[in-house]
Amino acid sequence: MLTATHPFSFVLFGASGHLAKLKLYPALFVLVLKKRLPKDFSIVGFSRSDMDDSSFRKFVAKAVRAEMAEVNDKVLSEFLEHVHYHRGQYDTTADFLALDKRLIELEKGWEAPVRLAYLSVPPAIFSDVLRNLCKGGIHRHEKGRDFRCIVEKPVGHDLESAKEIYKELTACFEENEVYLLYHYLGKEAVRNVYYLRYANPIFERLSKNTLVHHVQISASEMVGLEGRTGYFEHSGTLQDMFQSHLLMIAALLTMRLEGDENFRETRFNALEQLYLPPAKDLNDIVLQGQYGAGESQEKPVVGYVEEEGVAGDSHTNTYVALKLFSRTSRWQGVPFYMQSGKRLKQKETRISIRFQETRPVGKGAYPNRLDIILHGEAGMRMHLQTKLGGTEPEFRPMILEDPLVCFGDCLPEHGLLLLEAIRGKQQWFLSFDEVRHAWRLLDPIQKHLDDPDTPLHMYPAGTAGPDEMNEWIAKDGIHWF
Ligand code: BG6
Repeated sequence: MLTATHPFSFVLFGASGHLAKLKLYPALFVLVLKKRLPKDFSIVGFSRSDMDDSSFRKFVAKAVRAEMAEVNDKVLSEFLEHVHYHRGQYDTTADFLALDKRLIELEKGWEAPVRLAYLSVPPAIFSDVLRNLCKGGIHRHEKGRDFRCIVEKPVGHDLESAKEIYKELTACFEENEVYLLYHYLGKEAVRNVYYLRYANPIFERLSKNTLVHHVQISASEMVGLEGRTGYFEHSGTLQDMFQSHLLMIAALLTMRLEGDENFRETRFNALEQLYLPPAKDLNDIVLQGQYGAGESQEKPVVGYVEEEGVAGDSHTNTYVALKLFSRTSRWQGVPFYMQSGKRLKQKETRISIRFQETRPVGKGAYPNRLDIILHGEAGMRMHLQTKLGGTEPEFRPMILEDPLVCFGDCLPEHGLLLLEAIRGKQQWFLSFDEVRHAWRLLDPIQKHLDDPDTPLHMYPAGTAGPDEMNEWIAKDGIHWF
């Protein structure tokens, strides 16, 4: 069972933000609930909001209660005793010097604590925080203290900005002190994409270009913007979901199976092998859409451009479909179709591997397929078929399935990643190489999507996406599952 044994200070920049409320405080609470944290630790929220320890604790408690089905009051108050607030301006060095003093105070009597700075701030504030972390001495290795800087995605908005961030981060910290966090890599189900292959040689034997017809990776969401307009208007779905989560899923599916040593490098090698097929017209390999008014969970919802803060003529995509290939010898020639969108009819993240049909089988038969559902009604489904009674070869589907629920040491994704960061385990954090390559791959596509002449297909909220997505994939003789 993974636990943190070292005392640590966790400083959260962007303490009043959406991510902190939705994911981080509940995850930290779960770690306390499951007794995974040492007796000496502190969580220090840093932001510009006018709060003190007491009002911040109320804020954190509210966030925990909002996200957890049930809360044990005793554990919650134990947890809150470790929570502190430090008000400051991100661009004011004096506020960081004061923060350092506060941390020293809190860490009194602790042996070799680990300090973690978690950046959950908008890109515009990023540089100020980094500069002042450094000037304020928060990262200094004093008294055997280790330091880690955790950076929540997105790391930049293109290759150039990611390189800039790399420069800023490594100007003060060592590369191995930087933890680039994409929360999908904290999901047990996503990690399992690799381990299902690792543990099942039969599955691995089937996963090759002579047997696989194509792969689909879909991440559908029902939610809309959830108050993140400022960020989303400038990113859109390609940057928000493909650059990070979908490409990493494809890498986990196609990387060499080599065990935990050199894991990140092997994953990067697989990512590096992904490429956009040559196309006379980029619209053949990418399609974008935007939701209009419609329904979500039986309630009327507004269209994207009617959302608060969105420009009435916004060209930002909320749905993208993209076709990629891999150069790895096993997957050479197998198309990967990926799609993701907001305000769709269901929440589901799924990999579907459709196998070749070597010959026509008979009436009622359809090609074999393996679905690995990572989110939604999680599970693994092998689509086979069996003969119907009678003299003719007629078939009906036979689906072998397992709910793939997490058994054992199951933690929320941010909880697991935080524990690993405290312990200095970087395997499930991204390397800069991975981040840079993901941007390198997608920058030309983003440029194309930003072009006002590139079609933006509308779809009503609560549907599967724009109708054009079906024609787009049908050109290759297939359909979305
Ligand atoms: C985040 C994106 O990284 O992932 C969000 O920024 C998206 O826009 C979210 O909603 C989806 O995560 P999950 O865990 O709900 O699938």
